[in-house]
Amino acid sequence: MSDSNTTRIAVIGGDGTGPEVVAEGLKVLKTVAQLDGFKYETKSFDYGGDRYLKTGEVLPEGAVDELSTFDAIYLGAVGHPDVAPGILEKGLLLDLRFQLDQYINLRPVKLFPGVETPLAGKGPDDIDFVVVRENTEDLYCGVGGFLKKGTADEVATQAAVYTRKGCERCIRWAFEYTRRRDNPKKMLTLVAKTNVLTYGHDLWWRTFQDVAQEYPDIKADYNHVDACCMWMVKNPEYYDVIVTTNMFGDIITDLGGILQGGMGVAAGGNINPEPGGTSMFEPMGGSAPKYTGQGVINPIAAVNAMAMLLEQAGHAASAQRIHRAIMTVTGTKMQSQAAGRMGYSTSEVGDLVVEQLG
Ligand code: IPM
Ligand code: MN
Repeated sequence: MSDSNTTRIAVIGGDGTGPEVVAEGLKVLKTVAQLDGFKYETKSFDYGGDRYLKTGEVLPEGAVDELSTFDAIYLGAVGHPDVAPGILEKGLLLDLRFQLDQYINLRPVKLFPGVETPLAGKGPDDIDFVVVRENTEDLYCGVGGFLKKGTADEVATQAAVYTRKGCERCIRWAFEYTRRRDNPKKMLTLVAKTNVLTYGHDLWWRTFQDVAQEYPDIKADYNHVDACCMWMVKNPEYYDVIVTTNMFGDIITDLGGILQGGMGVAAGGNINPEPGGTSMFEPMGGSAPKYTGQGVINPIAAVNAMAMLLEQAGHAASAQRIHRAIMTVTGTKMQSQAAGRMGYSTSEVGDLVVEQLG
C-alpha cells in the first residue's frame, strides 16, 4: 500500500473536543494534498481518557512501537474529567515525547492578522517569534522521591537533570532553525537562570557559548527567564528565536500562547529531527470538555498544527499554503478566536480555510 513517497500519519483524536478539531485539520490535509499532489495515508488510534476508563491502560503494549513506524502523529487533546490529572498527560503525552525521543518542542508565537492580543498597542508585526524548548530532560525526568512520606518530617526531592548531549543537540537545532528562519534578525536568545541554577544552567550556558562558535552569522543572546517574561510582554518584537530548558519553556510558551491570541490558535510540535524520527503535532488548547460536541471550538490551532506537521514531513510549500489561508480567514472572516464567538461553527471555520487554499 504505502511507499516512501507516502506521508504516513497516525491520528490520535483524544479526549473532549480533540476529535472535532482534528477532523478539520484532516479536511485541510485532504485538500492541500490534492492541490500540491502528494500522497498520504492516515490511521486512527483511540488512545485517551475513554479507552483508559474501559481498559485501565493509557498506551497498550506495542503502541509506541507501532506509532514509531509513522512519519508523524497528529494529536487532538488529552484530558478527561473522570480521569485524575496527570495520568493521561504522563501516560500519553510525556511518555511519547520521551520514548520517541522528541527532543525539540517547537512553539511558534505568531499573531495572525485579525487576532486579538491582550498586549495594548502591539500587532502582527510585533509578535512573531519562536520558542525552541528542550523536551526530554530537566524536572520532567521524574527523578526524585519521598522520605518519611505522610509524616511531619516528610522530605520530597525532584531533580532537574541536564546532560551535555541533551542540551547540545537542542541548542544546535535551535541555531540551525534560526539560520533558516525567514527573519532578518538572526538572533538566538538562550533563556535560563544562570545566576541561581549555577550547575545545570552553567552547563547550558557553556554549551551555548561553544555551539555559538559554529554559527558566526547568528547573534547569540542571553536573558534570565524572569526578565524574559517581562520583555515578552513589554517588547515582544525584540525576539527572533528563544532556546530554553523544558520547565521554563513550558511556562513561557503559555505566556506566548496568550500573546498570540490564546488556545484557539496556538500550536506546537514535539520533534525528533533524526532521520526516521517520528514527530508529534498538537493544538495547545486542551480537551475543553464543556464544549464537546457543540461545534463551537476553534479549529485554527489544529489546522496550524497540521501545517507544522507538513513542514516537518517535507511539504513546506503546503505548510505555507495553509498558513496563508489561515491568515485570510482570521484576518477577514472570523469575528473572534474564542469558542462560541467565532461567528461560525467549528466545521464552517474548517471549510473557510479549505476555500482559501486554492
Ligand atoms: C505542554 C503541557 C504539558 C507539559 C503537560 C500537559 C504535561 O503543558 O505541552 O506544554 O507540561 O509539557
Ligand atoms: Mn504547557
